[in-house]
Amino acid sequence: MIRCTPIGAVGAEVDGIDLNMISDDDLENLKALFAEKGLLFFRDQELSPDAHLDFAKKWGPINVNRFFTPVEGYPSIAEVRKEPQQKYNIGGNWHTDHSYDQIPALGSMLYAKELPTLGGDTLFAGCAAAFDTLSEGMKITLRSLRAVHSSRHVFGKSAVIPEDMTDMFGNADRAFQDAEHPVIIEHPLSGRETLYVNPGFTTRFVGWTEKESNSLLAFLYEHISRPEHTYRFQWSKGALAFWDNRATWHLAVNDYPGETRLMHRITIEGEPLEP
Ligand code: SIN
Repeated sequence: MIRCTPIGAVGAEVDGIDLNMISDDDLENLKALFAEKGLLFFRDQELSPDAHLDFAKKWGPINVNRFFTPVEGYPSIAEVRKEPQQKYNIGGNWHTDHSYDQIPALGSMLYAKELPTLGGDTLFAGCAAAFDTLSEGMKITLRSLRAVHSSRHVFGKSAVIPEDMTDMFGNADRAFQDAEHPVIIEHPLSGRETLYVNPGFTTRFVGWTEKESNSLLAFLYEHISRPEHTYRFQWSKGALAFWDNRATWHLAVNDYPGETRLMHRITIEGEPLEP
């Protein structure tokens, strides 16, 4: 029987379930929980790459990430790897994946294969809770704004990718996406008003210059990342985190020099954010 421990402003830890064998009832409960919480954690799972894919496909078609190096033999599973000699890690700053796509991916399932002896946690932030704690005046202003999101400065030809990370990414010529989204979306699953800008990919507000946009964006980034909107997940081998890109941000803490961390990530296709 599924048990769920809710976590503050974002997420829930789920136990009493083996992701290799999910009944229809369990799946229905998990879908309702995911819609409500936007972030689920499962521990002690023994998932082969095929089982990981089978679980992900229960949420929708798989989005094959065009920039990440895949796991050998599994083009639809991205490898999130940091080796002992590497200085930088993947996802080491606050971001939400795929906001540069006009139809952003629903979310990702990250599965812990190999972990450092200490550290390598992931931080998450809840963007609906962050919206709720803004003033009414700010909410009214933000509802009238749209923002531009881009992949060019992160994955494109002009991106500054540290030398020890170049073989983790590819297809720089395919980083030509600029997308526009409302700053406050109505979340497709929960219906909650949710802040949808992020430091990784949002470049400016529509109709504003970058310079004009920067101070309001900086305010929103500081607000969303306040401790009361966040949760720090300490990984254990076999844990799986499943986050909703439209409801959360995440940041992979880079605090384990000289050690290996290896995760498998599967991303699921999303739906338009506006009618
Ligand atoms: C990511 O940004 O997808 C990686 C998150 C992590 O490795 O914790």
